Amino acid sequence: KQALNIVKFKKMKTDGVPISMLTAYDYPSAQLAEEAGIDMILVGDSLGNVVQGNETTLPVTIDDMVYHARTVKRGAPHTFIVADMPFMTYHGSIDESMRGVRRLMQEGLAHAVKMEGGQEICGTVAAIVAAGVPVLGHIGLTPQSVNMIGGYRIQGKDAKDAQRLMDEAKALEAAGAFGIVLELVTEEVARAISEAVSIPTIGIGAGRYVDGQVLVYHDLLRYDSSYREKRFVKTYADIGNVIREGISQYVQDVKQRSFPEERHVFNADETVLESLYGN
Ligand code: KIV
Ligand code: NA
Repeated sequence: KQALNIVKFKKMKTDGVPISMLTAYDYPSAQLAEEAGIDMILVGDSLGNVVQGNETTLPVTIDDMVYHARTVKRGAPHTFIVADMPFMTYHGSIDESMRGVRRLMQEGLAHAVKMEGGQEICGTVAAIVAAGVPVLGHIGLTPQSVNMIGGYRIQGKDAKDAQRLMDEAKALEAAGAFGIVLELVTEEVARAISEAVSIPTIGIGAGRYVDGQVLVYHDLLRYDSSYREKRFVKTYADIGNVIREGISQYVQDVKQRSFPEERHVFNADETVLESLYGN
């Protein structure tokens, strides 16, 4: 089976076929996502939150992204993989941005990179695309700018904000982005953007009228000790509870010496007993 590609994603938009995208961060999560038939995997810098336990995505480094991208690639060799450019790796010189892109592509073995922002990053987007690397845009709530935005707020509630998002989307399309993630955007604005651009929009908390959906692995599956409900997430399994219950059963079994059982042990032949204990 061949991975999809940016030409196919565009055709999916034209044909009205929704694109399914999910984050993954390591070998088993990527394997399971690929086996489940996901169209595109995002190695998101949300790993700063859900894997590393940070408050924000800001501490994530290019080394972290390369490490996780490689493990995802091993688990999902036949799936299109996008890797996030982390905080402060694409706002300096083009050269510096290119070094990060090179590492994600050449060491992380991603198919594409994702960057947060609008017009201010379009020069960099165009240069990366010109180098042969597909770029996925990301507008709306952009978590790397949480300190400027002042929290994780819904974007596109009023007319001025709607126009700003529309302008950003068109600028990213013109710069050569192959798609745009719309995060926490009102449904009406996400719909209008999706109709206005020819490249696929992938929504997270952006309603129904986008060209694809993306969710965070740990949200979809409640892979967390204290999952907080998020309105835009539908949880499809509760693996946090399954894992906790499994481990606590194991602890009990060890304490009660009910694990291991006879069927889990290896036996030597009879002569060993004699040699160990004599006759
Ligand atoms: O890092 C991430 O998981 C993301 C998605 C929320 C789009 O950027
Ligand atoms: Na991200």
